[in-house]
Amino acid sequence: MTFGSDSLPIFDESELGSFLCAELRSDHAGETGAVAMYKGIIAVSRNREILEFAHTHLKTEQRHLNLLTDWLPAQYKSRLIPLWWLSGWMLGALCVIGGRRFTFITISAVESFVINHYEQQIRYAPQDIKVLLTSLQEDEAHHQKDAALRTGTIKSSRLISLWNKVIWQGSALAVSLAKRI
Ligand SMILES: [Fe+2]
Ligand SMILES: [Fe+2]
Repeated sequence: MTFGSDSLPIFDESELGSFLCAELRSDHAGETGAVAMYKGIIAVSRNREILEFAHTHLKTEQRHLNLLTDWLPAQYKSRLIPLWWLSGWMLGALCVIGGRRFTFITISAVESFVINHYEQQIRYAPQDIKVLLTSLQEDEAHHQKDAALRTGTIKSSRLISLWNKVIWQGSALAVSLAKRI
């Protein structure tokens, strides 16, 4: 489902509440990181499959980012945008260096985190915001499935579960920072 900016209410903190505003700030930061991650992958990878995958999903992430960029007033965006951009780009570039399978494992872990992140917000968001978040979450679920399918059927190793933990904890730290700064 494609969600258009015309379906969004006017951004108003007194209506949304400061808690949800902080969450939305972290969503904008996260979508910035997602765009940067796919750009980092594209900059470094020479693998045709990875490049096609990254170009396709980058389009969706760019749409997510544009939607939130247009909707959120400047004061409701994280002041650490360069950091989210750099860390996303570096993560994308780094996972490509780790090889094809490692790239898809990393993307699957990142997208799983994002699905969960949106799920928390969908539970209590007002209806019009819930529709937006559900639409974003559906796209992330598609990205996650697409990446997970490409990781193959090899059993998960300790190293992979450790890497998943690093991704989840790193992303959780980024979210908590982006909610505040
Ligand atoms: Fe996204
Ligand atoms: Fe995504």
